[in-house]
Amino acid sequence: MLRKENPQFAEIAQKQRIKGILTSPPYVGLINYHEQHAYAYDLFDFKRLDELEIGPLFRGRGREARESYVHGVAEVFKNCKRFLADDYDVFVVANDKFNMYPTIAEIAGMHIVNQHKRPVLNRTEKNRETAYPETIFHLKEVQKKLEPSN
Ligand SMILES: C[S@@+](CC[C@H](N)C(=O)[O-])C[C@H]1O[C@@H](n2cnc3c(N)ncnc32)[C@H](O)[C@@H]1O
Repeated sequence: MLRKENPQFAEIAQKQRIKGILTSPPYVGLINYHEQHAYAYDLFDFKRLDELEIGPLFRGRGREARESYVHGVAEVFKNCKRFLADDYDVFVVANDKFNMYPTIAEIAGMHIVNQHKRPVLNRTEKNRETAYPETIFHLKEVQKKLEPSN
C-alpha cells in the first residue's frame, strides 16, 4: 500500500526503522469523524468509509463498540510495529475511562511503562466548560524472556 501511495517514502521506511510514534486516536463513541470532516470528503471527492472508522459516535460505547475499539486500535499498533525500531517508544493520548488501553497494549504485544496525566481545560467544541483528565500512555515492546542455553 505504502509502496503504491509513496514509493520514495516506502523505500526509506523499508531501510530505516521509526523510533517512536505520538498519536491521538479517536475516543470510543465520542465523535463521527467522517461527519466532522464531511466537507473534506466532498471537496476532494474522497470515498467515505464510515464502517471502518474506529470508535465512531454512531456505534456508541456499549460492550460491542468497546470490543471493536480495542481490536481496531490494537490492529493499528500491530501494523505500526512493522515499521518501528526494536526499542521503540509509543505515546498515546487517550481519555481511557473504560480502562481499555491495558488490553490494547497486551493484544499489540506492548506494555505500558508510564502514564502521564493531564487536565484538558480549553476545548473549542461543545461541552467545553467540562474539564476532564487525559492520560498519555507510554508504551514499549514486551521484552521476550531469553531461554537459558544448555
Ligand atoms: C483524535 S483525532 C486525531 C487527529 C490527528 N491527531 C490530527 O491532528 O489530525 C483521531 C483521528 O483518527 C481518525 N481515524 C478513525 N478511525 C480511523 C481508521 N480506521 N483509519 C485511519 N484513521 C482513523 C479520525 O478520522 C481522526 O482524524
